[in-house]
Amino acid sequence: MGKTLIVYHSVSGNTEKIALGLSRLLEADLVKINDKEKSGSLLIKTPSILLQWSGILRKDQKINIDAYERIFIGSPCWGYRVTPQVKHFVENHDFRGKEVLLFMTHGGDCGNSSDRFKALIKDGIYLGMLDYQISVEDKVVMKDLKRLGVK
Ligand SMILES: Cc1cc2nc3c(=O)[nH]c(=O)nc-3n(C[C@H](O)[C@H](O)[C@H](O)COP(=O)(O)O)c2cc1C
Repeated sequence: MGKTLIVYHSVSGNTEKIALGLSRLLEADLVKINDKEKSGSLLIKTPSILLQWSGILRKDQKINIDAYERIFIGSPCWGYRVTPQVKHFVENHDFRGKEVLLFMTHGGDCGNSSDRFKALIKDGIYLGMLDYQISVEDKVVMKDLKRLGVK
């Protein structure tokens, strides 16, 4: 299996925690979708996390995902769906032929986020969704990945 890319959005840090754990476990590249107009404030606030990022994506920025066979997309659940930032990213990239996995954190109920997301990735190969209420240990995430057949 080729390289994995993790792209995520997170405001209060729950989804970010899972994203960082996954990137460590899978040695995946990591990109954060920044919803601030300027990334300056983020750089100052979270220097330790920043060291682990491959990049911070501006809201409207497109990235080249050609090199990746598998893409994990992380989002908080907002109103039973992925955030507008994640939706925007997904709608502006082509996942044809790529394996795509959604991971979400939520407050207890993410409704039919998975079905909505599956429709968004169009011709991508949907591996399924991992969802966690607020937070979870890395080892639980690994077990869940195995359940989905992702090694
Ligand atoms: C605007 C907004 C909408 C939300 N909508 C939902 C929801 O529909 N269902 C749910 O279970 N939690 C909902 N939550 C809770 C978040 O999904 C949860 O706190 C999540 O872990 C936040 O992720 P983050 O820390 O990565 O930003 C909502 C939170 C916000 C701020």
